[in-house]
Amino acid sequence: MKAIRIAKPCDYDQTNPRVVSKGYVSIDEVEKPVRKPGEALLKILYGGICGSDNGSFKGTFAYANYPLIPGHEFSAQVVDVDEDNAYGIKKGMIVTCNPYMNCGKCYSDKHGHVNACMNNQTLGCQRDGAFREYFTMPVERCYDGKGMDPKLLAAIEPFCIAYHGVSRANVKPGEKVLVVGAGTIGVLAATAAHALGAEVYIADTMKGKLDLAKSIGVVDGTILNDIKDPDSFMRQVGEITGYEDFVDGGGNKQHVVNGFDVTIEAVGLPSTFQNCIDAASFGGRMVLIGVANKPLDFAFNIIQKKELSVFGSRNALKKDFLELIDLVNAGKAPLGKIITNSYEFDDAPKAFLDFANNKGDMLKVSIHIGDPVNLDSFDYAKVQ
Ligand SMILES: NC(=O)c1ccc[n+]([C@@H]2O[C@H](COP(=O)([O-])OP(=O)(O)OC[C@H]3O[C@@H](n4cnc5c(N)ncnc54)[C@H](O)[C@@H]3O)[C@@H](O)[C@H]2O)c1
Ligand SMILES: [Zn+2]
Repeated sequence: MKAIRIAKPCDYDQTNPRVVSKGYVSIDEVEKPVRKPGEALLKILYGGICGSDNGSFKGTFAYANYPLIPGHEFSAQVVDVDEDNAYGIKKGMIVTCNPYMNCGKCYSDKHGHVNACMNNQTLGCQRDGAFREYFTMPVERCYDGKGMDPKLLAAIEPFCIAYHGVSRANVKPGEKVLVVGAGTIGVLAATAAHALGAEVYIADTMKGKLDLAKSIGVVDGTILNDIKDPDSFMRQVGEITGYEDFVDGGGNKQHVVNGFDVTIEAVGLPSTFQNCIDAASFGGRMVLIGVANKPLDFAFNIIQKKELSVFGSRNALKKDFLELIDLVNAGKAPLGKIITNSYEFDDAPKAFLDFANNKGDMLKVSIHIGDPVNLDSFDYAKVQ
């Protein structure tokens, strides 16, 4: 059977960011998986390329071990499973899966924070993933899509990342929320906050990203984060949320930005973490979804002065998957609009190359891996 495989990182020009070769993604022959008791045998239908898959392709993702089968966003048909399993997963069901493999033994897991396992291994990142024709998963990690279009179902996982972050701040209807970063995760965080009834704004350095976010219909306004004019960010925050004017105890006139009830970081840079701290209101909440690899030296007393609540957000929980499947099936979140590009399985090398070189006009890239089969006439032994 076939799988998408990244042999090694592509030749990437960091100074003029673009891929300078075709890269090393190929469609390879791999062993057919054998299902063990407690697992479901899955026929993969659609996959979505995540920023981390893109990072493995470019060589910028720290955890990749090569050669690597990427992929942790997918939908699949269950072609074999224990009939009496306790999770209601049945043959023929179209499912998506929880790809954050936790160890089950660490302090974090024992306290219920399985999404932040100390030895977390996400499929397609720290271990081989699902971009292949057949795959096995522990049955408790498979969730019924309840009739959702399998192409859309494959995009539930990145939506879970964003939804988990938004849930950390317990966003309420009518609250003003700012998402910094209008990539896939940021736009999905905006989608989640909008579905919860918040007034949502989104910031990015690229106007094209803001236009794309607006076209999805989940934001009430945008902020162009012009890094050449650092003051412009807080100016725009002030225009949206207003100011308090008062004379302080020392007799000085003050003109202080009100800020957003909730700010959500979806970039992973020191400057955007700072933006989120600055743009949060007094008594506000800030959520860090972005993964950063650089330190920030900042006047942290602002957290005490504003009495901010700062939340980290990592991966997602079963509850996020189940809630989002219902939310999307109820038509409350336009998830389909984030899928901007679609490729066939055999064109996966081109999909990776195009995504790595995209100029900001691609959000979610979908790969069509296979179609459901008629299980009455299906013989797995005959799969090549
Ligand atoms: N918490 C988790 O478990 C988890 C899971 C997946 C991804 N992530 C992280 O979430 C972040 C977003 O992921 P993504 O796939 O959407 O990435 P992405 O690269 O598609 O999007 C990032 C966006 O940030 C914008 N940006 C860059 N600099 C900016 C600035 N100074 N101000 C405002 N916007 C700026 C970019 O133009 C881009 O639109 C990444 O850091 C990723 O590693 C976290
Ligand atoms: Zn663990």
